[in-house]
Amino acid sequence: MSMGGLDPAISLAENYRVWGREAAGRSPAYVTLSSAVADDLTILEFLGTLPPDKRQPNLLFASAYYLLGAPADPGTLRDLIRRAPDRLAQVMRTRRTQTNEPARCATLLPALAQLPEPLALIEVGASAGLTLLFDRYSYDYPGLRITGRDPEAPVLRCDLRGPVPVPGRLPEITWRAGLDLNPLDVTDDDDMRWLSCLVWPGEGDRAQRLAAAVAAARRSPPPVRRGDLLTDLPALVAEAPADATLVIYHSAVLAYVAPQDRERFAAIVRGLAAVWFSNEAPGVVPGVPLRDRDDGTFVLARDGRQALARTDGHGDWVEWLPAEPARQSGAAG
Ligand SMILES: C[S@@+](CC[C@H](N)C(=O)[O-])C[C@H]1O[C@@H](n2cnc3c(N)ncnc32)[C@H](O)[C@@H]1O
Repeated sequence: MSMGGLDPAISLAENYRVWGREAAGRSPAYVTLSSAVADDLTILEFLGTLPPDKRQPNLLFASAYYLLGAPADPGTLRDLIRRAPDRLAQVMRTRRTQTNEPARCATLLPALAQLPEPLALIEVGASAGLTLLFDRYSYDYPGLRITGRDPEAPVLRCDLRGPVPVPGRLPEITWRAGLDLNPLDVTDDDDMRWLSCLVWPGEGDRAQRLAAAVAAARRSPPPVRRGDLLTDLPALVAEAPADATLVIYHSAVLAYVAPQDRERFAAIVRGLAAVWFSNEAPGVVPGVPLRDRDDGTFVLARDGRQALARTDGHGDWVEWLPAEPARQSGAAG
């Protein structure tokens, strides 16, 4: 199961238990909460009144946080469901899990920086567009500091494992655009409050980093277009400047897309004249190897073929993978 969706092969209670195991080490409060939900028939019954794609832990917990003004615990969640089930259901029906983690830029930057400049970026599933702002942030890799264009923007700390090709400077980005089913507006207080409610309690400095990234984005908002990755990508590609290397990328998006639609998306991107970087859970991107671990780690891959790195799902570290051995051309069959 990905953290985004529910596994239809197991019960809702079991989904919450599995989710709790995946949250272990990240958020003790939500480990407790997910196991309380799994054992609570009233909460499970409440969830059963919602459409199947609206029952997942991230959405329930963020919606409760949004209404309570603080992360829920088992007691406050039960109380909320007793007092205001309709309000909670309404938030869950209208909001989506759109976590936007700027620190993922630190794991994608080494791949981007290897391309001929200048770059034109299209991020698919961009949420509020915070992962479009590579050149605004500063980076703190072990032994290497890279200064971004906005001195007030957050400094993204990222550990390196293996021979990561960290760049000495930021690449030149001359054009950027996001595409999302439901773009969040960085200038809208309510949208940004929702984004902050998607951060789990106990996750170190994530909340402060998000607030600093939103403040930076507000100084010059990233353009994120409303649209579906299955239908609206070619039109956006047509707007990109011809004199830049076009990069189409996405992170933590395809897990929310049905498997047959992931295949359709892969076929669309392969037909476009662009470099394609995916940063998704193992097994999610058709054609990308490395299915052996499903522990919250992502696989950063190029062009739906070559796995470049394992990356922490929240951008804490990147582990570069050895290059695949080159195939010998003309080898005897
Ligand atoms: C978990 S967020 C990830 C945001 C950002 N990529 C990041 O790494 O921080 C996933 C985003 O994908 C978007 N999304 C999901 N399905 C989509 C689709 N079919 N077309 C466009 N966007 C989609 C959601 O609306 C959401 O904003």
